[in-house]
Amino acid sequence: MSPLWGGRFESSLSYEVAKLTSSLEQDLRLWKADVKGSIAHARMLGRQGIIHAGDCEQIVNGLIAVREEISATGPSIFSASAEDVHSEIERLLREKIGPVAGKLHTARSRNDQVATACRLTIVEESRVLRSEIHTLQRWILQNSETEKETILPGLTHFQHAQPVSLAHHLLAYFWMLDRDRERLGQFEKRASLMPLGAAALAGTSFPLDREGVSDELGFEGLCENSLDAVSDRDFAIEFLSHVSILMMHLSRLCEELIIWSAPEHGFVTLDDSVTTGSSIMPQKKNPDLAELIRGRTGRAFGSLMGLLTVMKGLPLAYNRDMQEDKFHLFQGLDTALTSVRLMREMLETAVWNREKMRQSLKGDFSNATDLADDLARKGVPFREAHEIVGKVVLFCLKSGRDLESLSVGELREFHPAIDEGTRRKLSHAAVLEARSSRGGTSPKAVTFQIVKAREALERGVSP
Ligand code: ARG
Repeated sequence: MSPLWGGRFESSLSYEVAKLTSSLEQDLRLWKADVKGSIAHARMLGRQGIIHAGDCEQIVNGLIAVREEISATGPSIFSASAEDVHSEIERLLREKIGPVAGKLHTARSRNDQVATACRLTIVEESRVLRSEIHTLQRWILQNSETEKETILPGLTHFQHAQPVSLAHHLLAYFWMLDRDRERLGQFEKRASLMPLGAAALAGTSFPLDREGVSDELGFEGLCENSLDAVSDRDFAIEFLSHVSILMMHLSRLCEELIIWSAPEHGFVTLDDSVTTGSSIMPQKKNPDLAELIRGRTGRAFGSLMGLLTVMKGLPLAYNRDMQEDKFHLFQGLDTALTSVRLMREMLETAVWNREKMRQSLKGDFSNATDLADDLARKGVPFREAHEIVGKVVLFCLKSGRDLESLSVGELREFHPAIDEGTRRKLSHAAVLEARSSRGGTSPKAVTFQIVKAREALERGVSP
């Protein structure tokens, strides 16, 4: 395959160098955006009288035919030894319309062409990712409606702290995902600036209509500096940052599902379709999907670090190092898309074991704060109440008792203000119910939270 730049060279690249130089494997998926960008560019060249109307028509029709051909044949149409998808699309165009195809590249460089195709593609993919997150959030919301009174231990330092409802716990992830979705929406706006017209680095001497091209391609504006237009990859880095945060959230949920599905807890049973067995231990059922989403978080973080490292020492403007952007960008994107989709599959098929959750609360002292709160309400300074309840807990630990099993008489030995009402406040259901502050875990507060969550969800997939 002859490259786009053969004129001043007397010999061609060695096989190994050509292989290293090629980005076809990564930029294959830019093909649609590339054709779209080329059609808009060609139309503008015609409108501005930079090329003849007849040539413009031939090029545009040729590109439409190329688009149909690629759609019909698939990626096998591209030559594996090609430098990139952009040169391949030009080759296919030349095959169709002959040397006039060469006029398409007037007032354009691959530098602004690639950046344009990348931005168009990733903005579109970000929308897809956002709608997948939206679907996952919808599942969480639906499940929360039914789990408002399902109680499980809330932890700090991985020790039982205070009971929370399963709905409340799941909704915590709803809000994390909501911020992820919002960040992606903001990213799309910021990334939607068109580099085309920057040409190689300095702009062009041809009388372009950049605004017209930008409108046709659906960009929200133009890159205002040609050097920045071709050498900025912070749109890709920003996307990978958001993806990294998203994956960190999914990874934490995976970690919890792994713990919850272990027999020691048994809070959840993961479906056979998302778990695997062992080649030696017949009894095993392993949460591999959760582990792999957690594990693949490394790919997302790696992509972010990878691209930051590629960019950190590059002088303006384009350097070939930047071709590596696509490897990282698409690795991050694919990791996130797959993980969000499979997370939903895993949750949809999971079975909550409410009884196991209930049992795990027995004698866990996660109601101790409420005993102290009761004393505080009766006028005992909270610090003093804390000290008293600490002694009650110590007594229980030494005598093998649960806090909720102590009689009023036994409790009163620690403080005379304790009464029958105090004891009633110590059941886990009462403890849950009591946390009715806005954003708290009581069923009433969660009902309100669900209203807010539904509002957030109804804002839809637009940013
Ligand atoms: N495939 C290359 C990339 O993605 C195309 C740009 C080549 N530009 C150049 N000046 N050599 O970055």
